[in-house]
Amino acid sequence: MNIVTHISELRSLLNGHRLAGRRVAVVPTMGNLHSGHIHLVNEAQRHGDIVVCTIFVNPMQFGKNEDLDAYPRTLAQDAQKLETAGCTLLFAPPVSEIYPDGLEQQTVVSVPKVSERHCGASRPGHFDGVATVVSKLFNLVQPDTALFGLKDYQQFRVITKMVADLCFPIKLIGVETQRESSGLALSSRNGYLTSDEKQRAAVLYQTLLESRVQLQAGSSIEGVESMARVQLEQAGFRPDYYSVCDASTLEPAQHRDRDLVILAAAWMGKTRLIDNLRVQLSSR
Ligand code: PAF
Repeated sequence: MNIVTHISELRSLLNGHRLAGRRVAVVPTMGNLHSGHIHLVNEAQRHGDIVVCTIFVNPMQFGKNEDLDAYPRTLAQDAQKLETAGCTLLFAPPVSEIYPDGLEQQTVVSVPKVSERHCGASRPGHFDGVATVVSKLFNLVQPDTALFGLKDYQQFRVITKMVADLCFPIKLIGVETQRESSGLALSSRNGYLTSDEKQRAAVLYQTLLESRVQLQAGSSIEGVESMARVQLEQAGFRPDYYSVCDASTLEPAQHRDRDLVILAAAWMGKTRLIDNLRVQLSSR
């Protein structure tokens, strides 16, 4: 596996692959790789002749009081895991390579509507940071296919709209969330949890599953949302949002909507966890 930190090296290696007619699949990450990321790399191998993984802890998507400094940086271990997984090329640039003029001078990509609620409301500017860095990475790597985990469901919808609106000729693939046996979604931030918190955190997914059963049995959206919040609080969570939405617009679900997603974010101690679950209702 080639490990490159500079754009010029990345471009020249990728030119060689493209001249040889190879299809490129990219897996953008912020590193601290777990088996969910490796699953993305494995999936990427089905879509590309070569797999590029990017590791960049993107300062633009962190708010002022968020965990940018504490975010785990484990490049040597990550590179080892990617090598074992059969990744072709790792691009791990320093901040100065991606934002040479600083964050203040950076052109910003802002995706309307779908960015605004949920994590967009709780973390102002977060999705501008994500859309901006992902569009830069897409321009640098010029992949045929890009893969993202669906744990970050809203992020996937934001990137889907950005790709359509900005005419990126890239096929996006959302990959199912990988979970621990307790149901807890794999996330780099799980490493912040104590073992007691980790056990209690499994209630987030259990609550989503129960909400789905209730919605499919005809319970009201408002009733399901408020019951879920109570259940999360009882498990020691501080809910941020818990919202039944239309799966494509992410607007609050209306009674006629059939293809839904429940989006959830909640604090367990000092750790903010997110998860979601798709819900199909039968047509009336
Ligand atoms: O999901 C992530 O790890 C990040 O938000 C991403 C897509 C790599 C952009 O920094």
